[in-house]
Amino acid sequence: MNRSGKMKLLLRSLLLSSLCALSSWSVSSDTLVVTQSPDVSFHEGQTGNISCCWKGKTGRVGIKWLKNQTLVENKTVINQSTSSQNKQANSCTVLIFPNFTIRDSGRYICKVTVEIPTLTEIEGNGTTMTVTARAVITDHHNLN
Ligand SMILES: *[C@@H]1O[C@H](CO)[C@@H](O)[C@H](O)[C@H]1NC(C)=O
Ligand SMILES: *[C@@H]1O[C@H](CO)[C@@H](O)[C@H](O)[C@H]1NC(C)=O
Ligand SMILES: *[C@@H]1O[C@H](CO)[C@@H](O)[C@H](O)[C@H]1NC(C)=O
Ligand SMILES: *[C@@H]1O[C@H](CO)[C@@H](O)[C@H](O)[C@H]1NC(C)=O
Ligand SMILES: *[C@@H]1O[C@H](CO)[C@@H](O)[C@H](O)[C@H]1NC(C)=O
Ligand SMILES: *[C@@H]1O[C@H](CO)[C@@H](O)[C@H](O)[C@H]1NC(C)=O
Repeated sequence: MNRSGKMKLLLRSLLLSSLCALSSWSVSSDTLVVTQSPDVSFHEGQTGNISCCWKGKTGRVGIKWLKNQTLVENKTVINQSTSSQNKQANSCTVLIFPNFTIRDSGRYICKVTVEIPTLTEIEGNGTTMTVTARAVITDHHNLN
């Protein structure tokens, strides 16, 4: 190989390594962090919710709630505030249970999907929900 050929090779590998550095830098600055509320316990008939928060993204975000691999809610949250200083802000969504039943018990996983700049899906660690039977109403007559 002649001198200019070597030079081209060197330039190309320099260019490649700087491109790699650039893309890994942008990936790490865009890291999506998904946090779910801690495990909870409710009684039948109560009203409550569990939350799923994500940090590092604004704009169009898809949210899926899965319970035992079954989709229980699928929605898209569009956050208008896309200015760069808000990129690290926390955004949250809640799954509301208006009237708990024993069947709501289980482990709920929140999946957050971002399409821009690349399709990324991150799931939270899950929230275990325990719904217990309504407390038995004490029969006061038994006290006599
Ligand atoms: C999820 O669980 C892993 C391992 O238990 C832990 O290292 C990580 O910090 C947890 N993530 C969140 C967002 O709580
Ligand atoms: C909650 O569900 C139970 C059983 O389905 C029902 O008896 C009760 O009236 C409901 N409560 C409310 C506030 O909707
Ligand atoms: C979710 O539950 C918390 C208390 O656990 C309550 O403060 C909050 O208002 C609830 N959010 C919604 C949207 O119902
Ligand atoms: C989860 O789903 C599987 C199959 O769909 C079922 O066999 C299993 O009993 C379920 N587990 C719970 C905790 O609901
Ligand atoms: C969830 O909603 C999105 C957009 O609304 C749709 O593209 C996707 O297919 C849905 N996923 C499921 C499993 O229903
Ligand atoms: C939109 O973003 C702001 C700040 O970035 C945040 O406070 C707010 O909760 C977000 N709204 C939704 C619906 O996620």
